[in-house]
Amino acid sequence: MDKPTFYITTPIYYPSGNMHIGHTYTTVAADTMARFKRMTGYDAYFLTGTDEHGQKIERKAQEKGMETKAFVDEIVSATKELWALMNIRYDDFIRTTEDRHVRAVQKIFRKLYDQGDIYKSAYEGQYCAECESFWTPTQLKDGCCPDCGRPTEMAKEESYFFRMSKYQDWLIDYIERHPDFIQPPSRANEMLNNFLRPGLQDLCVSRTSFKWGVPVDFDDKHVVYVWVDALSNYITALGYTTDEDGLFRKYWPADVQLVGKEIVRFHTIYWPIMLHALGLPLPKQVFGHGWLLFGNDKMSKSKGNVVYPGPIVERYGCDALRYYLMREMPFGADGNYTNEALLLRINADLANDLGNLVSRTVAMIEKYCGGALPGPGEPTGFEEALVQRFEALPGLVEKSMNELQFSVALAEIWKLVGDANRYIDLTQPWILGRSEEDRSKLGTVLYHLAECVRAIAVLVEPTMPGTPGRIYAQLGLTDKNLMTWASIQKFGGLVPGTRVKKGAALFPRLDVAKELAALAGEEEPGKTAGPEKQEKPEKQEKKEKAPKDGVPEGCIAFDDFAKVQLVTAKVVACEKVEKSDKLLKETLELKNGERRTVVSGIAAYYTPEEMVGKTVVLVANLAPRKMRGILSEGMLLCAEGEDGTLKLVTVEDCAEGGWPIS
Ligand code: MSP
Repeated sequence: MDKPTFYITTPIYYPSGNMHIGHTYTTVAADTMARFKRMTGYDAYFLTGTDEHGQKIERKAQEKGMETKAFVDEIVSATKELWALMNIRYDDFIRTTEDRHVRAVQKIFRKLYDQGDIYKSAYEGQYCAECESFWTPTQLKDGCCPDCGRPTEMAKEESYFFRMSKYQDWLIDYIERHPDFIQPPSRANEMLNNFLRPGLQDLCVSRTSFKWGVPVDFDDKHVVYVWVDALSNYITALGYTTDEDGLFRKYWPADVQLVGKEIVRFHTIYWPIMLHALGLPLPKQVFGHGWLLFGNDKMSKSKGNVVYPGPIVERYGCDALRYYLMREMPFGADGNYTNEALLLRINADLANDLGNLVSRTVAMIEKYCGGALPGPGEPTGFEEALVQRFEALPGLVEKSMNELQFSVALAEIWKLVGDANRYIDLTQPWILGRSEEDRSKLGTVLYHLAECVRAIAVLVEPTMPGTPGRIYAQLGLTDKNLMTWASIQKFGGLVPGTRVKKGAALFPRLDVAKELAALAGEEEPGKTAGPEKQEKPEKQEKKEKAPKDGVPEGCIAFDDFAKVQLVTAKVVACEKVEKSDKLLKETLELKNGERRTVVSGIAAYYTPEEMVGKTVVLVANLAPRKMRGILSEGMLLCAEGEDGTLKLVTVEDCAEGGWPIS
């Protein structure tokens, strides 16, 4: 039986300069979705490309003293290299300067003209001679050109127009009857209220003042202007208007078209009207995602606040960057890019949570079982919840992915990562490993861990395509059937006896301060620093200037108090310290799964069982010290009664660790 099809597109990018992390964001999202669909049994087709026409590109080339085609060729080849570096697996890359596109656009333009949807008239409006652009009165900035700031003048230019107004009522009705067509729903309301209901103006679709475009083949003074050329790429790439239109018949209408929020209007008003006028069905969904901001501003080369992916990938690998992009902000909303957030994600989610889980699992199988995966034996009592999480996960991930909620899908996967790490703390395999009679339980624990690691490897593939292979190698897995979506629907696929092999750390822990300095010093286009570089000295300056005088004796300055880092911490495991009546050893969980070991003198007041599950207050930046050979990484706050009784300070209604206390 034929697989169901899934067609996904990114916008085609202007090759006016190197692609930055914002462009990478859309492309990674589309690639992640296409990979997910392929993994779940779809025949997915993923299109991306470049939007090469228009006056701005022509000018950029002139500025560089290059032929326009040579200029765009260079950027296109750098773009393709970047997509390869990011492990982007597109099925086609369309360039609007390719013959296949140019010929199809000419046919589309002629058809729309022949049937009366396009007509010839004159464009009249405020014209900026310097920029050779018309502006509407609302676009002008203080009556001047919004691009160069020079005064504009009334001018008239012969142009073809598309009768958008004719289709306005049809489109309002269509959007109202198809609530999934524009996502997120807030963007649909914006289109209806701000553009469609107030009334559409006919759209200028040709220009005579420049030549770098698709010539109108029945009126050679004109080139097709911007949107009819650019939007058509989604169907010209599939062979629309040609005899070889098999792909078009197979994949159109698109399932999802991803676009940044500033071009939602073109994709949900002009594009559907164009398609409808051509007698074609509309894409099932246009999803308008948010922007990746830098220093709270949209990244743009002209503002000098651009981050390029190359140096990041070089330092941390493309999977780390892909993970960050898909995990950090909800798809649809804007989010601020910072190097700190990237490094924290790498350390917490990838090095600590995922990396440690894999290395601990494999190391324990090597240590306790000579490297051969044991079979599950006697239960320890903690398996049921873990297996439940495992088996519910594919459904939850699929639901979130189908809603393009990449960050939610990853958060779901990381719940299993967290549960598996907690399972280690709860079952304490290093203690089970000590006695022969617990060997069967030890087998159960190690099997469950390895099986969870396998499922996690399968699930992260769409976002981090380079990672599963490295995990499978450590698990000693070679059977492809155990690397599939189908194979993780039920717990228990791994075959006991499989020989594991510890490998290099998946994501080595990074020294954040060192990495920040290195990233800020990037010389090539990856240079990021702008706002970050400026912020630091300012903060330091404030600190140095903080008045120390005027603090009454016996008091400390606020700045001194602020040095103490107090955070909530969840006690996930606890045991008595051997040969001590006073000491308990707690394993604490902070934010994002970070673990700490703390030794406290409270054994006389609390049993280990009473401790587990409490949310306590940790002095997190106390210098670590060894107690009875155990490195204690902080101190728990207690209230001390007159008789010396200790009562732990706990936080109610706070199930998580890592909340700063201020
Ligand atoms: N060429 C047009 C699209 C034509 S589609 C028929 C265009 N090109 S663009 O290169 O300027 O932008 C392409 C896409 O990249 C847009 O969806 C845009 O929103 C996205 N991004 C560019 N910078 C971005 C961020 N900083 N963050 C997220 N996406 C951003 O528009």
